[in-house]
Amino acid sequence: MGNIQVAIDGPAGAGKSTIAKLVSRRMGIIYIDTGAMYRAVALKAIRQGINTQDRERVSQMVNNIDIKIEHAGNEQVIYLDGEDVSGKIRIPEVSVGASNVASIPEVRLKMVDLQRKIARSSSVVMDGRDIGTYVLPDAKYKFFLTASVEERAKRRYQELVEKGITNISLEEVKKDIEYRDMNDASRELAPLVKAKDAIEIDTTCLTAEEVADKIMVHIGESKC
Ligand code: CDP
Repeated sequence: MGNIQVAIDGPAGAGKSTIAKLVSRRMGIIYIDTGAMYRAVALKAIRQGINTQDRERVSQMVNNIDIKIEHAGNEQVIYLDGEDVSGKIRIPEVSVGASNVASIPEVRLKMVDLQRKIARSSSVVMDGRDIGTYVLPDAKYKFFLTASVEERAKRRYQELVEKGITNISLEEVKKDIEYRDMNDASRELAPLVKAKDAIEIDTTCLTAEEVADKIMVHIGESKC
């Protein structure tokens, strides 16, 4: 029997990673947060003083990058050149940088290759922007999560506060999200767009558990 693939796409702060984690736990399969890969690329560029919009320098840099994903229980751990950077990639500067490097085709091709390799070797719930449209177009289950930009900014701001990151205001978080929405949706290769066959769920007024329940109903129903 082939591996099961569940694709969860959507814009920043729509709840993808929380929900992908819940669904993967319920299904007993691994969870892959593909955004972490673009974040790791951005972190490396920032550390080397490379402008994350500089296509030539960033694509040279990715020729020589080692990104590995491991799992500790249900948590994903990401290694950049052997260093665990799972916590370090969550700061706002890296979020914006990730969106910039993600629009560079050389970066995407390398990350997508890695993502497809993982999905070939095991069943996955994979979250990102282009999973249902480009990375795993044949995924059996595809979901597209949305929420109002105000709600998404509020959620992301709350997450940052919980992590002790308080040097950014709610208004700035909202601006970062709007910038990434626009950047992610307008890039040439694999932009953020709902796959035709994806089920769209507006999460604005739902808890993560309620969204996961809805997804599990679809997955359970289509098995019958
Ligand atoms: O968690 P959040 O939604 O804020 O972002 P993320 O999923 O960690 O992704 C960070 C950035 O990486 C996004 O703004 C996208 O530009 C990019 N990304 C992408 O282009 N393709 C993916 N499959 C995943 C992320």
